[in-house]
Amino acid sequence: MKLLSLSFFLFLLGSIVAQSFTPENTWVNLQSDRVLDLTKSYIQEYITLTIKNTDDKPNNEYFYALPSYVYYQLSSFTATNSKNGQELKLAYLDDKSTLINDQPLVNYVKIQLDKPIAPKQSAKLRLKYTVLDLVEPFPAKIQLQDEQGLLLKTFKLPLSSYITESATLKITGIPNGQELAVNGQADVEHQGTVENRAVVYRFKDVEPLMISILPFVYSHNAPLGVVTDLNRGVWVSHWGNTVQFEEFYKLTNNAAELIDGFARVDLFLNRNTMRSTHAIAAMEVTLEEDAQDIYYTDLVGNVSTSRVVGEKLYLKPRYPVYGGWNYNFTIGWTNTLSQFLSKVSSEDYSLTVPLINGPSDVVYDNVDLTFYLPEGAEVVDVRSDFPYVSKSDGYELSFFDLGKGHTAVTLHYEALTDELSHNKVTILYRYNSLAMYSLPLNIAKFAAILLVSYFLLSKVNISLRAK
Ligand SMILES: *[C@@H]1O[C@H](CO)[C@@H](O)[C@H](O)[C@H]1NC(C)=O
Ligand SMILES: *[C@@H]1O[C@H](CO)[C@@H](O)[C@H](O)[C@H]1NC(C)=O
Ligand SMILES: *[C@@H]1O[C@H](CO)[C@@H](O)[C@H](O)[C@H]1NC(C)=O
Repeated sequence: MKLLSLSFFLFLLGSIVAQSFTPENTWVNLQSDRVLDLTKSYIQEYITLTIKNTDDKPNNEYFYALPSYVYYQLSSFTATNSKNGQELKLAYLDDKSTLINDQPLVNYVKIQLDKPIAPKQSAKLRLKYTVLDLVEPFPAKIQLQDEQGLLLKTFKLPLSSYITESATLKITGIPNGQELAVNGQADVEHQGTVENRAVVYRFKDVEPLMISILPFVYSHNAPLGVVTDLNRGVWVSHWGNTVQFEEFYKLTNNAAELIDGFARVDLFLNRNTMRSTHAIAAMEVTLEEDAQDIYYTDLVGNVSTSRVVGEKLYLKPRYPVYGGWNYNFTIGWTNTLSQFLSKVSSEDYSLTVPLINGPSDVVYDNVDLTFYLPEGAEVVDVRSDFPYVSKSDGYELSFFDLGKGHTAVTLHYEALTDELSHNKVTILYRYNSLAMYSLPLNIAKFAAILLVSYFLLSKVNISLRAK
């Protein structure tokens, strides 16, 4: 049966946990409310935790537990103090996990509270995190006109290294869904109920490190868009007073594949009946205000099926991108420099751009964000709201560069989602007015060379004539 594909769950069952790292038992979770939002192609979780210090001294560290297979698929994670909205410092404990058969079973995010909590006192935390790759098409192959189902592979009981007195789990953002039986056995002890279009589970007095699984099937007739690679170039020109954005996308769709392959007839017959589909038929990209010179090309050339409405660019791929299919394309636009640039001192500039602009509801495996600064610019600092994985510096030659070329800085990011588009990246650089004129000077140099050559040619001509 299909459930065999859940084997990575099954090894968790009935095993004895050989704990290699467990946080000290200094808290009790009075109440833990977990909301799983399945609206998008990735999972967004919202946790509200009321915790009480059971230690005999003040404590300001809380270890939030996650199954390792979830921990390693985290895209973003934030924690705030519910009372004052203060964002809390986090540490990802990659190398401290609870092991079983030498495999990590539970990992922890260490949350630093903004102030120590006295013994017997409580605190309320709000967490939000995004997890990638926890859903797969179910079944894996369907007909073009079929509605797509997804299988969510998550955990059910509240997982914590502390005792949890009371907890809820609420699954939202789905038209309908159903828990699958594991090994033919339904979990009769904890059954979900449907309340206000959500599936709700309730738990009481859950022991520490209770590992449980929740295979959950729901209908989601939308694509699972993944940008495997995005190269986002930001070209800065002081001379032209512009910032040019150029983005190359390698897009794929992780939705269910078509059983019978693709036939245009089917598409034609279904066009009028399909409101939403698991193919990527259109994308909506939010550009920067007052973007000019917008273009959209692919391997074949200019794609005419795009529309700009306000700051939104609506793109239609050359063909509908079905499950397992790929599509490469490039978009670009230009803004005025002053929208993003501020002058810090006479020679220092600060340029701030969004981390990404791309389509809504997509996951990014790899993003390279490259700033191309004017020739002669010197990078002072780079600040990114969302942490990058690596940074590299270099030079890029372009037309009229006679020296080393544009100063280039590339930031490499992994595991992003469209949810992070509000994040900013700032580059601080030094650029003096002498360097500013280096481009025009270069053009002047070219002109001088041309003139001299022309003069020499005419000299030759004269001398020839004179012969
Ligand atoms: C590309 O297509 C758009 C939309 O039809 C059109 O406005 C634009 O002029 C085209 N560009 C080129 C270079 O052909
Ligand atoms: C997309 O580009 C990559 C190389 O950059 C190429 O290998 C791949 O075949 C392209 N895919 C499509 C569908 O054009
Ligand atoms: C060179 O001389 C020929 C014939 O006298 C003339 O037609 C041509 O324009 C001259 N070329 C240049 C570069 O002045």
